[in-house]
Amino acid sequence: MTLLLSERLLLRPVTAEDADTVIRWRNSDEARAAFWTTDVVTHDTHRLFLATRRAHEYVWMAETIDGDRERVGMGALTVDVRACEAEWGKIFVGPAYRRGGYGQEMVRAALRFAFDVLNLKRVWIEAWASNTAILAMYRRIGLRDCLRRSDQPLRERPTAFMEITREMRRAQA
Ligand SMILES: CC(C)(COP(=O)(O)OP(=O)(O)OC[C@H]1O[C@@H](n2cnc3c(N)ncnc32)[C@H](O)[C@@H]1OP(=O)(O)O)[C@@H](O)C(=O)NCCC(=O)NCCS
Repeated sequence: MTLLLSERLLLRPVTAEDADTVIRWRNSDEARAAFWTTDVVTHDTHRLFLATRRAHEYVWMAETIDGDRERVGMGALTVDVRACEAEWGKIFVGPAYRRGGYGQEMVRAALRFAFDVLNLKRVWIEAWASNTAILAMYRRIGLRDCLRRSDQPLRERPTAFMEITREMRRAQA
């Protein structure tokens, strides 16, 4: 079990007990607009999703570390061990917690894990090119535009790819 700790958050693996929260978030109009699939999430699909995660696919729920332990958001890091890189994605911050820096804090915690613990060379993301909020957040964190990956499926609308490499992180430190 991989736990990540940041200033205000604990990122712990998503579990079956998170189903109600995941269902509420993922079936919202904005999540359906932000994610690739618009399929309705149910208790069954959530269980199936958890059961079919591969090794090195970290799907975290972020909760506050103060007394309330509130679920703030979720996100996932999928590591390609052979390529020594990972895709970050599936990020969603609960509407009540937006613009409080939690999204940024989650990504920074995942990047620390990717670079400092797993010693990866690169982390990349793909998002709808129209999702200005998420792209602004990644830019602020230090990711930069990169070329489209040929191994990713062609989507029905334009997407943006961004990356951060080990060298970029060193230069930003
Ligand atoms: C995108 C999202 C994850 C941001 O989470 P958040 O916790 O609100 O983000 P933060 O508070 O950490 O914001 C960090 C920075 O990102 C940028 N940002 C975040 N939301 C933004 C918005 N709605 N519009 C423009 N910029 C935004 C800003 O630069 C912000 O810094 P600032 O608040 O000092 O201006 C959240 O809005 C969300 O869950 N959206 C729906 C799901 C989604 O789009 N997921 C992406 C799938 S690829």
